[in-house]
Amino acid sequence: TNIILLGPPGAGKGTQAHKLVAERGMVQLSTGDMLREARTSGTEMGKRVAEVMDRGQLVTDDIVIGLIEEKLDTVKAPGFIFDGFPRTLKQADALGALLERHGQTLGAVIEMKVDDEALVSRITGRFTCGDCGAVYHDVTHPTKVAGVCDACGSTNLKRRADDNEVSLRTRLMEYYKKTSPLVGYYYHAHLLSSIDALASVETVADEIAKVLDKAG
Ligand code: AP5
Ligand code: ZN
Repeated sequence: TNIILLGPPGAGKGTQAHKLVAERGMVQLSTGDMLREARTSGTEMGKRVAEVMDRGQLVTDDIVIGLIEEKLDTVKAPGFIFDGFPRTLKQADALGALLERHGQTLGAVIEMKVDDEALVSRITGRFTCGDCGAVYHDVTHPTKVAGVCDACGSTNLKRRADDNEVSLRTRLMEYYKKTSPLVGYYYHAHLLSSIDALASVETVADEIAKVLDKAG
């Protein structure tokens, strides 16, 4: 089944998507990861995207809808996890139309609820593996050996340019202005489940598993 992980920056979308990929063989479609890949390509589009992302603003709908469309056209999966997409009502409408065109449906939209206080420390302590994408945190989830990824042994551990307090404030404002209306949108589509994302990674994973099992 296909699901959306909906939540503000730092809610744990990427962390949980990674677990679902490892445990259920689902495929993660993170528009944030796709955009970060595009910016390393050095193309004009990549450069423009980089500036917008580093400020913490949303990239234009057409760009991200195009990225998702390309994946749905080319990737086969037992289930997609939409991570960080859709983020606007226009993107939500576009996703509905794209899924329909591919003969697919949405099984559930999981709203990951957190309070803003927790987000600052989660975001400013985050680092990720540049090779396998594993997500860590200085305090709550350090690597077992300092500087070495637990999952793949890489020493290419990185911090994101937008993971500072100033950009985070903008990202949160963008979330409340443009993305949070999707909560009502999916509630009325009878797809919304809200979970407490302040709980431990394992507890959150259990809650998501319950929603997935119910969605079939
Ligand atoms: P994106 O990459 O999607 O970033 P985001 O939404 O800001 O979300 P994050 O990746 O910051 O957080 P997360 O929820 O995945 O948390 P994580 O699991 O890492 O987007 C980046 C930018 O790209 C946007 O600002 C925008 O410019 C652009 N963009 C992307 N998609 C777009 C779209 N559709 N339209 C327009 N523009 C778009 O966890 C965070 C930290 O907390 C980690 O250190 C982790 O270890 C820790 N943690 C996780 N869970 C727990 C837990 N339960 N307990 C304790 N610590 C935890
Ligand atoms: Zn790794």
